[in-house]
Amino acid sequence: MKKIIFLLLLGFSTNLFASDSKLNLPIYSYPLKEGKGKQLVETYCQMCHSVGYILNNAGVDKKTWEHIVHHMIHDFKAPIDEKSAKEILDYLVKNYGTKNK
Ligand code: HEC
Repeated sequence: MKKIIFLLLLGFSTNLFASDSKLNLPIYSYPLKEGKGKQLVETYCQMCHSVGYILNNAGVDKKTWEHIVHHMIHDFKAPIDEKSAKEILDYLVKNYGTKNK
């Protein structure tokens, strides 16, 4: 009898734990840092892949971000106008550049 109660309690508590835990978030949700340009990144840089690609590259220098954005636009044909691309680059450098490793 004690064993059954123990198992019931165990089941109950793990259920509670699961419904309370952040593990319930969808795995493709990556929060980006707040800042000017964030919305552009969310709009333009998630058309083909998640922003996880961006977070994986956090800490690279300005030149590398320039190269990456250029690569997306010219090689993968990301439809991003020059003005937005510049703002995206500023956002990436500011929030995910070398100083923010
Ligand atoms: C038109 C589709 C498309 C759009 C839009 C796009 N990407 Fe990509 N991106 C890709 C593809 C395809 C790959 C995978 C290529 C590879 O593995 O080298 C990739 C890979 C990446 C990588 C990892 C590759 C590496 O060299 O480390 C980063 C970082 C990245 N994208 C950033 C961005 C950013 C920032 C934006 C917004 C400015 C963006 N992407 C928009 C298609 C896109």
